[in-house]
Amino acid sequence: MNRRLGVLISGRGSNLQALIEATRDRRLDATIAVVISNREDAQGLARARAAGVETLTISHRGWSSRDDHDRVIVRELRARDVGLVCLAGYMRLVGPPLLEAFPNAILNVHPSLLPAFPGVDAPRQAIEHGVRVSGVTVHFVTSELDNGPIVLQRAVPVLDDDTVETLAARILVEEHKAYPEAVAVVLGGGWRIEDRRFVRSATSASSSLSPLRADS
Ligand code: GAR
Repeated sequence: MNRRLGVLISGRGSNLQALIEATRDRRLDATIAVVISNREDAQGLARARAAGVETLTISHRGWSSRDDHDRVIVRELRARDVGLVCLAGYMRLVGPPLLEAFPNAILNVHPSLLPAFPGVDAPRQAIEHGVRVSGVTVHFVTSELDNGPIVLQRAVPVLDDDTVETLAARILVEEHKAYPEAVAVVLGGGWRIEDRRFVRSATSASSSLSPLRADS
């Protein structure tokens, strides 16, 4: 798989920052070709610029349909020869133009152990439900919200005195480790999708327990 990433954001961009740092430290053998935000006030845009990464704002407003917005994003990603799209706090449903342009090549990070607690405010949902364990999921994107084959999950215990904020903060720490790791696994190849399962071949699964670069 082509190792040029397109990162889509809507806000803070801390997962984008984790990807930037992983590529900079050579823990992740990839290049962030472009960061696209649907909001011009997204903090992540400044993070990308500070790292010398090209940024674009493509507002979701003013198009006659969601598909038109998606088509422009596809055009810009293709113009930069992007091979893998990473949603990093991109708070929009991805429509058919993007899904068809990047089949099995769009990843998302979500702050829960999916399929529990999709959508917004996953840590709040976890606290309100009273689960004892939550976590992070990195998964391929499909037309359904926070659905799709799961590449990697990490559990985070819910503590008795957790608030939404403390739980979200601990999950975020795991997100920042899990996302670059999952991107490295996907870029490394040797996997297939069976039904809705992400299956690694025996060699790629056993060759490295840490899927990050051996020289890191
Ligand atoms: C992250 O916690 C990410 O998992 C979540 O939004 C936050 C974005 O933070 N995404 C979702 O909930 C997707 N359904 P960031 O902008 O600092 O990376």
